[in-house]
Amino acid sequence: MLTGQLVSPVESLASVQDLAGRADGGPLVLLLGPSFANTAGIGQVLPFLTDHPEVGAILVTDELSTELLQTALRSGVKDVLAAPVAADQLTAAVARVAETLGSAPLARDQSSGASLSLVSSGVIGEPEIDLGKVVTVFSTKGGAGKSVLAVNLAVVLARRSDKPVVLVDADLQFGDIAVMLGLAPQHTIVDAVGSLNRLDVGLLQQYLLKHEPSGLFILPAPLEPSFAEQITAQEIMQIVAILRTFCSFVIIDTPAYFNEVVLAIIEESDEILLMAGMDIPNIKNVKIGLQTLRLLNLSLEKVHLVLNRANSKVKLDVSEVEKSLQIKAESLIPSDVVVPQSVNKGTPVVLDSPKSGVAKAIEQLANMFLPSSSGRR
Ligand SMILES: Nc1ncnc2c1ncn2[C@@H]1O[C@H](COP(=O)(O)OP(=O)(O)OP(=O)(O)O)[C@@H](O)[C@H]1O
Ligand SMILES: [Mg+2]
Repeated sequence: MLTGQLVSPVESLASVQDLAGRADGGPLVLLLGPSFANTAGIGQVLPFLTDHPEVGAILVTDELSTELLQTALRSGVKDVLAAPVAADQLTAAVARVAETLGSAPLARDQSSGASLSLVSSGVIGEPEIDLGKVVTVFSTKGGAGKSVLAVNLAVVLARRSDKPVVLVDADLQFGDIAVMLGLAPQHTIVDAVGSLNRLDVGLLQQYLLKHEPSGLFILPAPLEPSFAEQITAQEIMQIVAILRTFCSFVIIDTPAYFNEVVLAIIEESDEILLMAGMDIPNIKNVKIGLQTLRLLNLSLEKVHLVLNRANSKVKLDVSEVEKSLQIKAESLIPSDVVVPQSVNKGTPVVLDSPKSGVAKAIEQLANMFLPSSSGRR
């Protein structure tokens, strides 16, 4: 039985009606049994959850689907666990939700009489339930090669992943991802933000542009730079959250500065590719960028330094750059004229010149994110 697995005080409730009388304003974790794991069930508790922000709900379901995840998350449910759920995983989920509520709460079981035998779980936000990985390409220096890397990495991942891969152009003012791929967008991120209150996977997919040669999906930047101001960090993160539910990777290209949107993206990312070029102004700017990331208390484990034009004869060598930045370079991308040539053609260099050193370096970088045996080429 679900409640028997928790050490904190637990109380079982027989029906939704019982809920109202039991919430006393203090923090409380509510466990919802599988009978609530559908639109009607979630709809039943939604008004209560809206009225009681001090209550954090965990939904246990027999069958985990993208639709259920979305409905649950958008209704304010904090975690969804797939039954059977192991005792320690349940305890961990309760503790995690409790933490978001501010103190150790009483756990209440709203399993509607359903007897649950809980053996293994998946928790939203962890890869075991297959949420896509968010990989952000960032640099504090304009022209460092962010968009070239984002496009080509995304193309490689799209070709090698069984699930969709999406590239989000979060350079909201001057994004040029679509141009780099030789595509003319019908829709952009502005459409997705505009319909956020009814946005689901199906609608969001309609706004994505497909790069046929690789199968990559793109969420293009606004066509007008002035639209950028209308898009908030929270809106972008809501879109990314939906993309993660059906994509294996969400690759995000960013502008060369920190703003509210970029900070939110960086905080939510699983991996950050920090791009630097091989000249002193570049290194200086990237150093400041790294300091900012440290100040943000960002785990530097997820920051990977990528040195672009790493073969340039510019009297700086890789070890000097690494020493100055106090971080090891995980990828070295050579300078090659095939890059601007491919950009001008609107064909990613990994497809246009697959044998080039640039293409090989990016393929290798992609290996870092892919399990060695999986996917197709
Ligand atoms: N390895 C490389 N070899 C040769 N040229 C390169 C290389 N990487 C990038 N470039 C060229 O540098 C220019 C800038 O690249 P890109 O647009 O990717 O930079 P960015 O960091 O996205 O710039 P912005 O900050 O303006 O968004 C492009 O014209 C591209 O062709
Ligand atoms: Mg760019």
